[in-house]
Amino acid sequence: MKQGGSDAAKRAAGEAAAETAEDGMVIGLGTGSTAAHAIRAIGRQVDAGLDVVGVPTSFQSRELARTAGIPLADLDEVTVDLAIDGADEVAGGDLVKGGGAAHAREKIVDASADRFLVVADPTKMAETLSYPVPLEVLPAARTTVAESVRELGGDPDLRRAERKDGPVVTDNGNLVLDCAFGEIADPAALAADLATLPGVVEHGLFVDVADAVYVGSEDGVTVRE
Ligand code: 5RP
Repeated sequence: MKQGGSDAAKRAAGEAAAETAEDGMVIGLGTGSTAAHAIRAIGRQVDAGLDVVGVPTSFQSRELARTAGIPLADLDEVTVDLAIDGADEVAGGDLVKGGGAAHAREKIVDASADRFLVVADPTKMAETLSYPVPLEVLPAARTTVAESVRELGGDPDLRRAERKDGPVVTDNGNLVLDCAFGEIADPAALAADLATLPGVVEHGLFVDVADAVYVGSEDGVTVRE
């Protein structure tokens, strides 16, 4: 994932988005270092009396939310009012996500929310998406999906664990292919193509799902609706 942004910028975005939490809300809790700032901020508000329930998008966000003291529910028990999540790249209302290999659950939670806020630092902002698109794939489909991605003009690369010998395995027990397509002129068309590939559990293109993008910096936050 793009790691260029400062922690201060990520914190500013995450904390500003967390301020939109209101009593009674069910809140989708995103994954990654920027969303983590929002989760910690919501935890502090819960400490101060805010009455919300969180829906984590990954094992990582579940653990963080537990530590922060946020009551949790599973997505099949509730409907989500507000989701706050990071992104690897943002162009208008379209995103590439999945740098944390959590995009399958993130998409379910973020897309189902009444309001989905993206939290990002300025290094994530682009005119046109070009970040490699993560595909979560069933292990048995790794080779066939890679071949189909090449036919679509992409360059698939099996994601490997940084500190362990072997591939990254998602919370759902699957593998991740990071697929470089260069500049993505038509994200909706590519999303449609990727969604039809047998063995693809979910792809990391989030097309037209963001309601607002909170872009943090050392000087404050800009909200793009
Ligand atoms: C995880 C994601 C993250 O939200 C994305 O990778 C951004 O992470 P960070 O805020 O740490 O830069 O999509 O699957």
